[in-house]
This record gives sequence, structure tokens and C-alpha cells, in this order.
Amino acid sequence: MRLSLLLAGYAATANAYAHGNVDKRSSFQAKCESFAHQIKVQDATIHSVTHVPIGTNISMSNVPAVCASDADDTSSTFEFCRVALNVTTSSKSQIFMEAWLPSNYSGRFLSTGNGGLGGCIQYSDMVYAAGYGFATVATNNGHFGDTGVYFYHNTEVLEDYAYRAIHTGVVVGKEITKQFYTKGFDKSYYMGCSTGGREGWKSIQKFPDDFDGVVAGSPAFNLVNLINWGARFLPTTGNSSAATFVTDAQWITIHDEILRQCDDLDGAADGIIEDPDLCQPIFETLLCNSTASAGSSSCLTGTQVKTVNTIFSPLYGNNDTILYPRMQPGSELTAAYVYYNGQPFSYAEDWFRYVVYSNPSWDPASWTVNDAVIADAQDPYQVSTFQGDISAFQKKGKVLHYHGMEDPIISSDSSKMYYKHVADTMNLSPSQLDEFYRFFTISGMGHCSTGDGAGSIGQGVGTFAGNDPEDNVLLAMVRWVEEGIAPDFVRGTKFNGTEVEYRRKHCKYPKRNKYVGPGAYEDENAWKCV
Ligand SMILES: *[C@@H]1O[C@H](CO)[C@@H](O)[C@H](O)[C@H]1NC(C)=O
Ligand SMILES: *[C@@H]1O[C@H](CO)[C@@H](O)[C@H](O)[C@H]1NC(C)=O
Ligand SMILES: *[C@@H]1O[C@H](CO)[C@@H](O)[C@H](O)[C@H]1NC(C)=O
Ligand SMILES: *[C@@H]1O[C@H](CO)[C@@H](O)[C@H](O)[C@H]1NC(C)=O
Ligand SMILES: *[C@@H]1O[C@H](CO)[C@@H](O)[C@H](O)[C@H]1NC(C)=O
Ligand SMILES: *[C@@H]1O[C@H](CO)[C@@H](O)[C@H](O)[C@H]1NC(C)=O
Ligand SMILES: *[C@@H]1O[C@H](CO)[C@@H](O)[C@H](O)[C@H]1NC(C)=O
Repeated sequence: MRLSLLLAGYAATANAYAHGNVDKRSSFQAKCESFAHQIKVQDATIHSVTHVPIGTNISMSNVPAVCASDADDTSSTFEFCRVALNVTTSSKSQIFMEAWLPSNYSGRFLSTGNGGLGGCIQYSDMVYAAGYGFATVATNNGHFGDTGVYFYHNTEVLEDYAYRAIHTGVVVGKEITKQFYTKGFDKSYYMGCSTGGREGWKSIQKFPDDFDGVVAGSPAFNLVNLINWGARFLPTTGNSSAATFVTDAQWITIHDEILRQCDDLDGAADGIIEDPDLCQPIFETLLCNSTASAGSSSCLTGTQVKTVNTIFSPLYGNNDTILYPRMQPGSELTAAYVYYNGQPFSYAEDWFRYVVYSNPSWDPASWTVNDAVIADAQDPYQVSTFQGDISAFQKKGKVLHYHGMEDPIISSDSSKMYYKHVADTMNLSPSQLDEFYRFFTISGMGHCSTGDGAGSIGQGVGTFAGNDPEDNVLLAMVRWVEEGIAPDFVRGTKFNGTEVEYRRKHCKYPKRNKYVGPGAYEDENAWKCV
């Protein structure tokens, strides 16, 4: 019933904004075509204004090759007017951006975000949001490609990356939206994950009027120390022939040992760790002995155990300040490929070469805590995005923050650290923060995408699990902003292929999920937030 009410609500809003009536489609096409002559944006070059009918391919032919992996051919399920332009941000920098203006307009504006050091529009997020009737914008974040090389000797491009590209895209995108739809827009939203999560938080901190509702996942905030933390793995593991190195096969053994020690702490031995805070594994149980001998994948040498202990310990500066928290246990099968592989972490390599030292031959194997302290002190354009006072945003906005508890790229402990930082800075208890800031811990979710558990929460096309706001973080945010109904949980779906295997309600921090029965683990009502 809630679903049909919701859809009815959308239809009513869409009707209120439709301008044509009988011949809506062709009049929309004419409107889009004439918009090419009407659109006016300062400091901009308009590349194209294109009418995209339902069922036609959304062309990616103009997407640079370095961004092709984010740009799959998609047959459009909705009709829209597609605008592409460049906007100058300084004498040495410019952004590329697109605005997708759907005919089924809901009266809502939305900006998407980026990933990594990118550099690329996430077209699948545009498809997702514009398909819901949002006037949707995206930028290339000031440069094309998932690389830091453009920061080298050009701090303007770095400034775009830190905050300016998204904000410019929002200012310009809102202007385009007002020029295209005579009624303008009612509410403004943001949705992004990873670097996109950081960009959402940057807006909250620096441009608190940009959005009424922000959905920010797995944020790459505390960015410089995230990079430092990523840089630490190579000197910790050494390369694949070092005595300190731990093999992929040994990481499987370590993962099994983590589950042996921690899986049932939430009441359910289901292979999913609900709250990694409860998991403080002792790896000395894996030390080799006379029956399991060194060199076997079923045990670790003392030197290797030290490597593993470091990985699961915070990164400290040159005093007792934690720069970045530990990797959360549970993510190691994937993290072994991302971080523990004896190779440089490319984002750290780029950051130190093109930002910190402006030295393209800097050697990532040479990284020490002294480098971390130098990088941390720079924090150009406050790219770290870790401001604890968000009181300006509190006055009008809402933020839904989520993080996967199996994230192998950005430790979910970083999100907990930020939540506490905001609470401490603003002197607000969790129940007071609930008024405008809610953080959800998503067990069984990897980095912005699915993992071993119920990780599909509607944060994009690939994780769509239904139109009920309880299953869909974007629609949950719309309901919170427009109807004042705040989410108390986020329900995730575990798919087996296209079949729903089970659903699980994920808790609002600082509550944690506990299996209480009597139903099976797959029964969402057999769990309780405590
Ligand atoms: C869209 O492009 C894809 C791949 O190039 C092609 O397979 C498909 O038939 C095209 N669809 C339409 C509707 O043109
Ligand atoms: C408008 O949205 C409805 C429901 O999502 C969809 O069936 C229809 O094709 C859309 N129409 C256009 C013109 O995009
Ligand atoms: C648009 O800006 C990007 C940098 O963000 C640049 O790479 C590209 O060449 C520009 N496009 C045009 C047509 O000027
Ligand atoms: C690993 O590092 C050592 C010491 O720096 C070096 O001698 C060796 O060639 C490297 N091995 C590999 C596989 O890269
Ligand atoms: C030897 O190590 C193996 C593998 O870690 C373990 O299962 C076994 O219990 C250990 N034996 C003793 C006597 O500690
Ligand atoms: C400890 O180190 C951090 C990071 O290097 C620095 O910001 C902080 O001021 C230092 N604290 C003290 C008490 O020296
Ligand atoms: C997943 O789907 C496959 C194929 O339909 C089926 O054989 C398998 O039992 C399913 N697994 C679970 C856990 O439901």
C-alpha cells in the first residue's frame, strides 16, 4: 500500500510540472530543441542540447576514452533533454558538465558525484536519478580520468577537485533548471558515494544552502589521511618476496579465523559481521607450529602476524593522535587485492607525486609517518572535508550517511569517527543529531556496492531493490525532506542473481544489529537494533 501511495504521489507531482498536455511528447521535443538557442550560462561553452526520446540509446560517443568504463550504452527508459557544456572555473581550469532534464519532471533537482581521483561523470547515477524525474547534473570534477596527474603544477585543478567543480555544477545546473522549466525547482538533492560521499559532505560543510537533502555513502573524507593510510600498506606488507608479505591464500585463512572469532558475536553465525566494533581478533592463534609449518597457507610466521596486526591497527601520527582508524575486519578477501598485494596504491602514489612533493619520481615504497605528517599539514583547500561544525546545514538540511561494514577501500571506522567528531564538536547527542543527521551501518556491503550480505539499498542502478523508501535511500531522503518522515532503518536486500534471497533492516548508529530469533537469519524480523 505504501508503494502505491508513493507512486501516486510522484504522478501527481509530475502532472503539476508538465507543461504540454495532449501532445506532450512532441512539444517537449520542440521545447528541448529551442532551448539550444535560449540557454544562457556565464563563462560557459555549450557543446550540445539534444532531445533523447524513450527507447533510444543514450549516446556516449563524446565521452573521453579515459572515462569509458563509467559510460555504458543504455537504452533510455524515459524522455529527456540533454545539455552538455564546459564552465570556466579559473584562468587555468574548467569543468565539463551535463544536465539531464526529464519530461516527467518531479520538480526536484539533484547533483551526482564522482569516484576516486576522478575525473569522470557517473552516468549510471544520472540514469538512475533522471529516471525518477530529477533534473540531474554531473561534472567531471575538473579533469577527465581517475588520475592525479592534472594536479601537477596546477593548483586550480586541485581546487576544482577539492570543492569547486561540484559547487559550480550545482549553481549552473540550478540556473539551467530554472531556465528550462518555468516553475523552477522545489527541492534540491545530492547523491554520491566514496569520493561522491566526500563531495556530499563538502557541500554540507562549505555550501550548506546547496541541498535540502544529501545522501552520502562510504565517504572519502579525512581524505589526506585516507591517502596516508592507503600509502602505509605497501611499506607494511613489503613486496611479494618480502618476509612480511602475506599471501592471498593466507588471507583466506585469516578471514576464516576472523569469522571464527567474530561471526556469532551478533548472535548469528551467518558469515556476516554486523558490527566490526565488537570484533577485536587475536591473530597469534594462527602462528605456525610443528604440525602447521611455515610456508603453508594455513598458518603465519610471527613476522606475518605483525603485518596483520598493523593492518588492523589505526595509523598514528608522530604523537598519539589517530590520523586514520584501522581497517575493519571482514573485508580482507577483497582488501587483499586492493591494498595487501605488495603494489603501490595508485591514489597515494599520485597524491604524493603531484600534490605533496611535486616530484613525479617519488617512490611509494619509501613512505613513512613523516610523509604522513607533511601531507596532513598541507590539506590543500581543506580537501580533507572533516569539519565537525555543520550547524549552518542543520538549520535547513537533512543528511543520510551510510557505510558498508565490509568496505575494503575506505574503512567504515572512518564514518564512525566523523559521526563522533560532529557530535563532540556540536555538543549533540545521537538523539539530537537524529533531527538532521542519520548514519546507517550496512552489514554485508562492500565499497558502495554489494558484498556478502544485504547490501542493495537503492544507492544506484546496480543496487536497486524496490521503490519503497525503506528499501531505497534516495526515496527515503525525498520522504524525509518533503514529508518529514525520517528513516529509522535502511532495509537492504541480498540478491541471488535476480531473485531476492533475503532482506535485513540495517540500524541507525550507534545502535547495532542483534539476532534475537525466533525466525531464521534470513527473517528481517528476527533482528533487533540494540
Ligand atoms: C544501443 O547500442 C547498443 C550497443 O552499441 C546496441 O546493441 C543496441 O542495439 C542499441 N540500441 C538502440 C535502441 O539503438
Ligand atoms: C514517465 O514515467 C512513467 C512512469 O515511470 C513511464 O512509464 C513513462 O514512460 C515516462 N514518460 C516519459 C515521457 O518519460
Ligand atoms: C572541457 O573541460 C575539460 C576539463 O575539465 C577539458 O579537458 C576539455 O578539453 C574541455 N572541453 C572543451 C571542448 O573545451
Ligand atoms: C622486492 O623488494 C626487494 C628489496 O627492495 C627487491 O630486491 C626485490 O627485487 C623485490 N621483488 C619483487 C618481486 O619486486
Ligand atoms: C598448530 O597450528 C594449527 C594451525 O594454526 C592449529 O590448528 C593447531 O591447533 C596448532 N597446534 C598447536 C599444538 O598449537
Ligand atoms: C599530533 O600530531 C597531529 C598530526 O600530525 C597534529 O595535528 C597535532 O597538533 C599533534 N598534537 C600535539 C599535541 O602535538
Ligand atoms: C541461488 O540460486 C541458485 C540458482 O537458482 C540456486 O541453485 C541456489 O540454491 C540459490 N542460493 C540460495 C542461497 O538461495
